[in-house]
Amino acid sequence: MGQQFINTAGVVFAWAAIPYRMEWRYGPVSAKAIAVDAGHVCQNLYLACEVVSCGTCAIGAYDQEQIDALIRLDGEDEFVIYLASFGYIIPKELPN
Ligand SMILES: Cc1cc2nc3c(=O)[nH]c(=O)nc-3n(C[C@H](O)[C@H](O)[C@H](O)COP(=O)(O)O)c2cc1C
Repeated sequence: MGQQFINTAGVVFAWAAIPYRMEWRYGPVSAKAIAVDAGHVCQNLYLACEVVSCGTCAIGAYDQEQIDALIRLDGEDEFVIYLASFGYIIPKELPN
């Protein structure tokens, strides 16, 4: 989706969900619980990132079919729900 910074990231995390593992127990509130879980995980990446003086960027805008195919998920029972790039920050050049 034109988010070119992902190409130069040191690593890209892709978090996937298997909804059934939540649904058998939590039923209709499963979607909310999955979203909250993903948010917690990514927020911890932001915190860890600060500790090692790196940069991260949560990514919610991506091509669903392409990312699922890339990491070989079926896109129905298991699919990516969130991404984050992570890596060194390249300092911007200061103006003269
Ligand atoms: C659910 C969610 C989806 C996001 N999706 C994108 C994205 O697709 N592309 C992007 O550059 N940043 C995305 N972000 C990152 C935000 O633009 C922002 O950089 C991040 O929340 C940190 O904000 P701060 O650096 O201003 O504190 C997303 C953030 C969240 C919480």
